[in-house]
Amino acid sequence: MKITNDIKYVGVNDHKIDLFEGQYIVPNGMAYNSYVIMDEKIAVMDTVDINFGDEWLNNIKEVVGGKSPDYLVVQHMEPDHSACIMKFLEAYPNATVVGNAKTFTMMGQFFNVPESMKQLVVKDKDTLNLGTHTLTFIFAPMVHWPEVMVSYDSKDKVLFSADGFGKFGALDVEEDWDCEARRYYIGIVGKYGMQVQKLLKAAADLDIQIICPLHGPILTENLGHYIGQYDTWSSYRPENQGVMIAYSSVYGNTKKAVELLAEKLKEKNCPKVVVADLAREDMAECVEDAFRYDKLVLASVTYNGDVFPFMKKFINELTERNYQNRTVGFIENGSWAPTAKRVMSAMLEKSKNITYTDTTVTIKSAINDESVTAINALADELCK
Ligand SMILES: [Fe+2]
Ligand SMILES: [Fe+2]
Repeated sequence: MKITNDIKYVGVNDHKIDLFEGQYIVPNGMAYNSYVIMDEKIAVMDTVDINFGDEWLNNIKEVVGGKSPDYLVVQHMEPDHSACIMKFLEAYPNATVVGNAKTFTMMGQFFNVPESMKQLVVKDKDTLNLGTHTLTFIFAPMVHWPEVMVSYDSKDKVLFSADGFGKFGALDVEEDWDCEARRYYIGIVGKYGMQVQKLLKAAADLDIQIICPLHGPILTENLGHYIGQYDTWSSYRPENQGVMIAYSSVYGNTKKAVELLAEKLKEKNCPKVVVADLAREDMAECVEDAFRYDKLVLASVTYNGDVFPFMKKFINELTERNYQNRTVGFIENGSWAPTAKRVMSAMLEKSKNITYTDTTVTIKSAINDESVTAINALADELCK
């Protein structure tokens, strides 16, 4: 696949993976992207997952023909991109591996690096001349690993963005970019908004026409949209107005309260209402929605003097990703000593700029007239 006259795609699609990065379901598989820049010197940008080394090397061979790559640029040492570095060196022992000091430290931790390996250690903003193309390396520490760097080719105006602008899903499946890029971003990079903001500021000075990420499609049009989405997500601004109601229910009584609230919100023409059963739905999708909308209702039964495990996991997923700048309301249920609300609000204590609704709905076992009145009041507050 040709990206520009000199830049070719040599990545692979993975439809066998069960959980990406050990936790994310990927119904449409995953792509591990890799690129070859053909110039006086030939550079390969990153490797692929361990299971696709042969396919990847074949792709490279088809592009370079009888020639040998001069450089392997390692932008990220996470094994979905770095697993085949040694395999590459077996095929091309004279190639120079390009990375920063942290890249090579990690490489030594992951592999038995042969002493004969040629290395080029680069610093932030260093350049590598390939002939007509010059790559500038821009360090992006903690987006989302410490050694990450992105590379800018000033000739074709291409940003090789590492995991940035990546998404779940293989490239032979057509699907909406926003949905699976958002789930990927919030899940994997969400904690590092500040670092992404820094990278976006550095990228703003570049004339970028094409973004080549390590996952998901190559972005060639409407780049303002993708960069805008990254700016929204990394600054923790809500993307859309709407209420997400996340619940955990055991016998269906808390669920009934949630359904009633959703109905009331729709009656009041709330712009969007999303309801998620935390025990049954994809946790990463739930986390994504909590970050997407400006309002969140947490509804849970009390359990072991605490909150139901799925709700506990959900709130932890939010707070470890710096959940902030949202409105939050609570529905709690407890047959003898309801404590869920106390636990849930304590878990959010360190989250910045959270506005809590005045109304909390407390149910004792099943909804009654009093809880219906409270649900109405909560709906009013969320819609005003
Ligand atoms: Fe990564
Ligand atoms: Fe990755």
